[in-house]
Amino acid sequence: MQIKVLMVCLGNICRSPLAEGILKSKVDPSRILVDSAGTAGYHVGSSPDDRSIAVARNFQIDISQQRCRRFVIEDFDRFDHIFVMDQSNYQDVLELAQRESHIRKVRLILEETNLDYEEVPDPYYGGESGFDHVYQLLDNACNVLAERLK
Ligand code: 4NP
Repeated sequence: MQIKVLMVCLGNICRSPLAEGILKSKVDPSRILVDSAGTAGYHVGSSPDDRSIAVARNFQIDISQQRCRRFVIEDFDRFDHIFVMDQSNYQDVLELAQRESHIRKVRLILEETNLDYEEVPDPYYGGESGFDHVYQLLDNACNVLAERLK
C-alpha cells in the first residue's frame, strides 16, 4: 500500500514546498505519496516563494507547479506521517488533533535526522542564504526519511 507523507510549515510557500519536492525526488512515487500544507491561510493558491523555487532549481528539482493549501483536520486521516518544520507548527497542528492516533503521526522533521538543529528555521524574512541553509537541512533529513520509508 502507498505510504502518504505530508510536509507542514506556516505559510506553505517556503519550507514545506521544498521538503515536498526534495523527498519526491528521492522516492518511488508509486510507493510514496508526498504533499505539503501550511497551518496559516495567507497564501492559499499561490506558487511557492521565488527563492524556494530558485534554490530547488539549482538542484534540478522543479517545485514551481505546487500550489499553496492550508492544513485541514482531514489530513490526519489521509496521511501516515506528518512532518512539521518547527515547534510553532507542531503546536498549531496538535491543536487540531482529535485523537491519540493523530498526535502520534506528527513529528519535527529534524527530530531524528539532525542533532544540531531541531527546527528548520523560517527563511521568509531573511536573504537567499537562509534558503540554501533550509535546503541543506531538508536534503539531509529527506535522505534519512527516504531510506527509512523503503
Ligand atoms: P514558510 O515561510 O512557513 O516556510 O512557508 C513563511 C511564509 C510566509 C509567511 C511566514 C512564513 N508569512 O508570514 O506570510
